[in-house]
Amino acid sequence: MSFLKYALPALAVAGRAAAQSSCSAATTTIQNAGDASALASCTTFTGSIAIATGTTDNIALDGIQKIQGSLIANNVTGMTQLSAGDLETITDSFTLSELTVLSSLTFPVLTNVDMIEWTALPALQQLSFTNGVQTASQVSIQNTQLNTLDGINLQVVDQFFIANNNYLENIEMQLGNITTSLILESNGKNVSAIFPNLDWAYNMTFRNCSQVSIPSLASLNGSMGFYSNEFSTLNAPNLTTVGGTLSFVSNTDLSNVTMPSLKSVGGGFQIANNTEFKIVNGFPKLATVGGALDFYGNFTNVTLPSLSDVRGAFNLQSSADITDDCSTFQSLAGSNNVIKGTFTCAGEQAKPSGQGSTPSSTGSSSSSSSTHSSGAIPMYIPTGAAGFMGVVAAVFGIF
Ligand SMILES: *[C@@H]1O[C@H](CO)[C@@H](O)[C@H](O)[C@H]1NC(C)=O
Ligand SMILES: *[C@@H]1O[C@H](CO)[C@@H](O)[C@H](O)[C@H]1NC(C)=O
Ligand SMILES: *[C@@H]1O[C@H](CO)[C@@H](O)[C@H](O)[C@H]1NC(C)=O
Ligand SMILES: *[C@@H]1O[C@H](CO)[C@@H](O)[C@H](O)[C@H]1NC(C)=O
Ligand SMILES: *[C@@H]1O[C@H](CO)[C@@H](O)[C@H](O)[C@H]1NC(C)=O
Ligand SMILES: *[C@@H]1O[C@H](CO)[C@@H](O)[C@H](O)[C@H]1NC(C)=O
Ligand SMILES: *[C@@H]1O[C@H](CO)[C@@H](O)[C@H](O)[C@H]1NC(C)=O
Ligand SMILES: *[C@@H]1O[C@H](CO)[C@@H](O)[C@H](O)[C@H]1NC(C)=O
Ligand SMILES: *[C@@H]1O[C@H](CO)[C@@H](O)[C@H](O)[C@H]1NC(C)=O
Ligand SMILES: *[C@@H]1O[C@H](CO)[C@@H](O)[C@H](O)[C@H]1NC(C)=O
Ligand SMILES: *[C@@H]1O[C@H](CO)[C@@H](O)[C@H](O)[C@H]1NC(C)=O
Repeated sequence: MSFLKYALPALAVAGRAAAQSSCSAATTTIQNAGDASALASCTTFTGSIAIATGTTDNIALDGIQKIQGSLIANNVTGMTQLSAGDLETITDSFTLSELTVLSSLTFPVLTNVDMIEWTALPALQQLSFTNGVQTASQVSIQNTQLNTLDGINLQVVDQFFIANNNYLENIEMQLGNITTSLILESNGKNVSAIFPNLDWAYNMTFRNCSQVSIPSLASLNGSMGFYSNEFSTLNAPNLTTVGGTLSFVSNTDLSNVTMPSLKSVGGGFQIANNTEFKIVNGFPKLATVGGALDFYGNFTNVTLPSLSDVRGAFNLQSSADITDDCSTFQSLAGSNNVIKGTFTCAGEQAKPSGQGSTPSSTGSSSSSSSTHSSGAIPMYIPTGAAGFMGVVAAVFGIF
């Protein structure tokens, strides 16, 4: 049988001395419970263990403490239980995919895995990981029925991708930092993402979340984006720097964002299509935007009192009257001024739109624009209610 390809050391053969033994093989394929128990004397297994597609037995990999390699079960459609009572470490990947009836995953002492790659586990509702996985470089969990991730409580991770787990209601980790990326999307309808100790991350993307809690987040090397979430408030009290872009797009209930310490956004800053987001006043210290500032929506008030350097374009469009705020921003526009790129600010727009779009002339609020792209010729956006106070003089950006 193929599983016997691994080499049993002499000690293991001697029986009771098995506690110290190690075994090795490139890949050992397990077909049934007997094959699994035959590995019980391998305290350390060097090589990978795969579970054969046709396996229908419950598989218990007891005795093995460390797999110096991967543990893989792909397309094992008849296996309902997989366990490893003594396994603490998997140095490479723990891969589970297309296990249609797997309902029990019991790894009570597993704490270290390099990569968790789980996909299409439609019968898996919970993990029985008593100690909990604490370190992993990559975690990707998709299309499972997991209700929680209890059992995975990472302190450090490089990549964390959790998507399409329709019953997942709670993602809570002790993570201190995320060195590459975190992406959460299309999980349970009421999923909360809670990272009480997260200090910094490279990139983070939150989609379809009902709650996001990042009380200690201080910085992002790269970008942070919130798309189609359901929460109404977002508070990031300790966030000072976003190295890349900061985006809030299509969060239907979002009405209040508070980032009282945020000073700098290295890339673009976008707030778009958040129907209920009317008062933007939660960025009292924001001074620098390295890219474009692009806000469009149903704003009634937009204030950025500390703004001192916007290097890209500035676009603010709203369905409501924002005459006063447009006047304030207008006074900051110009090549030697705060807002150096193309300036557009318009209220009372039927369809507030993104940077590069031309506000429609139906607005009766302020509407003005300047550009440097067409040389010295100013681009002037007239308003419908010409003659009334609506028109704020165009400012010409000259680079
Ligand atoms: C899964 O295994 C079955 C046989 O058990 C095979 O017919 C099928 O092609 C496999 N699917 C994948 C995606 O490997
Ligand atoms: C990353 O987070 C872990 C866990 O909190 C911490 O031990 C480590 O010092 C952090 N590393 C850096 C570079 O911040
Ligand atoms: C962070 O996100 C940006 C923009 O999507 C991407 O270009 C960059 O490669 C990402 N960096 C990492 C470390 O994932
Ligand atoms: C998640 O949000 C995306 C848009 O970002 C949307 O297309 C999708 O339908 C949402 N999924 C769920 C499960 O709500
Ligand atoms: C959503 O989850 C929160 C806890 O995270 C709970 O308080 C709330 O009642 C839940 N809402 C619904 C509609 O289930
Ligand atoms: C916020 O930052 C301050 C100063 O760095 C720190 O003392 C405080 O513990 C942080 N708050 C949280 C919730 O991490
Ligand atoms: C990302 O930011 C953290 C915290 O400021 C820093 O320790 C880390 O070195 C940065 N990573 C990269 C790749 O710049
Ligand atoms: C947003 O919430 C904060 C508290 O988190 C509050 O101080 C602020 O007034 C709120 N802003 C708006 C516009 O409701
Ligand atoms: C905002 O909504 C409009 C209209 O549905 C759409 O064309 C635009 O792409 C949306 N903006 C973003 C950033 O998704
Ligand atoms: C403004 O609010 C209306 C609903 O009142 C919504 O249909 C529209 O998409 C919102 N516009 C933007 C740009 O968010
Ligand atoms: C919103 O703007 C209007 C008009 O400029 C002003 O009267 C009102 O006090 C502002 N409200 C807030 C909460 O800033």
